[in-house]
Amino acid sequence: MTHTKILIQTYGCQMNVYDTEIIKRLLYPLGYTFTSAAKSADIILINTCAIREKAEQKVFSYLGRLALMKQNRANLIIGVCGCIAQNDGKKIINRSPCVDFVVGTHALFHLPSILDQVRKKTNNQNVFTDFYEKLDELDPKQEPILESNISSFVTIIRGCNNYCSYCVVPFVRGPEMSRSPEAILEEIEIKVSKGTREITLLGQNVNSYGKRENLLSFVQLLKRINKIDNLYRIRFTTSHPKDFNDDLIHAFVHLEKLCFHIHLPVQSGSNNILKQMNRKYSRDDYLKKIERLKQECPDICITSDFIVGFPGETQKDFEDTLSLIRTVKYDSLFAFQYSDRYVAPSYHYKQKVDESLKRERLMELLSVQSDNTLRRNERFIGQTVQVLVEGKSKRNPGQWTGRTSGNKIVNFIAPNLNKDIHASLIDVFIEEACAHSLRGVIA
Ligand code: 5AD
Ligand code: SF4
Repeated sequence: MTHTKILIQTYGCQMNVYDTEIIKRLLYPLGYTFTSAAKSADIILINTCAIREKAEQKVFSYLGRLALMKQNRANLIIGVCGCIAQNDGKKIINRSPCVDFVVGTHALFHLPSILDQVRKKTNNQNVFTDFYEKLDELDPKQEPILESNISSFVTIIRGCNNYCSYCVVPFVRGPEMSRSPEAILEEIEIKVSKGTREITLLGQNVNSYGKRENLLSFVQLLKRINKIDNLYRIRFTTSHPKDFNDDLIHAFVHLEKLCFHIHLPVQSGSNNILKQMNRKYSRDDYLKKIERLKQECPDICITSDFIVGFPGETQKDFEDTLSLIRTVKYDSLFAFQYSDRYVAPSYHYKQKVDESLKRERLMELLSVQSDNTLRRNERFIGQTVQVLVEGKSKRNPGQWTGRTSGNKIVNFIAPNLNKDIHASLIDVFIEEACAHSLRGVIA
């Protein structure tokens, strides 16, 4: 048994957060322990994100700080895993010589033997970035699940086959691979037995679940998960608009645990740009799907992702995006300035948009949406909503905090209540709408 201490520094999306949990589940049974203090760590492992240049810069600036630390601690082992690791392999070590080893997104599952090799220096290999046909399943019974969060992630499908022209994901995470329904259900059941009440199913495109392996469809999987006792809520992310269909709309209507929120990234409101992005739907296709969804589920909360300043984006293209935002009236959205990634096809597209213009467009887009966000929050004033209580508010310990089914944060007071309502579903009367949250009082 080793008593080595590891610090895992996680950057990027929810899938990386889940992969960090996988790393812990792989290493914990071998006697590794985890720390959040760099000072006491024997190994520092950085789980990285390559989606935009900014995400990459954060990792290399952290590596700069670690290089200084390593000057006085020759035994400190530094590893890089995740999406930058898969993309750049050996180049990372050339750029940051303090890095001892690099593990890609598939080789991650071999981390125990990789760490063994690296520490015993049994061979000279220090870059592990092979892709595999099949990924290992961790036995949920043998490997303790360390986090017993009220809300947990479970990856159901890895990789992506869509090749949107701006995106690194298909190159760094490989082709789509679905986990078996049995493994997913068992993992959720174990998490629920340890206190999880809400599960977010993860995949780059959850609608493709099971297609390659001929398993259950995504909606069939949702129906099975909906039957798990003591699980209160199911969320998922992300759904690709091209595959969003009536089956999923019906699931929102009929599956009582499925939360009333959909994240449906459109990226742009211009047909020309959607085509250049290889998104495989038109503005009209998207708006029709949103219309159908709103007809069947009028109360559903809708969110999206946008990229501004994609190569060749004209003022007219950008205005089409603004008009789509005004039409859909999203509950909230994420917007990003286009970032050139050398593996993505759009890297080679001409007519790159100036950084300053991208910034201007981003600001304008966010200001158009901020009106929508507030209006969409205000509709809850005077209503009673059900909140899954996550705990006491960090900013104001006199208040509780949680989320609605539509994923709105609610801060509320519970006068004269001595009961611990942590992890329970509580009715809250909404009195006030703020820019990013709702405020109320226990009903
Ligand atoms: N530049 C800017 N944003 C990007 N995204 C993906 N690739 C890029 C890129 N090269 C955004 C998309 C996606 C979200 C996760 O990140 O909006 O939906
Ligand atoms: Fe990237 Fe497109 Fe795949 Fe999403 S669907 S991960 S944006 S390639």
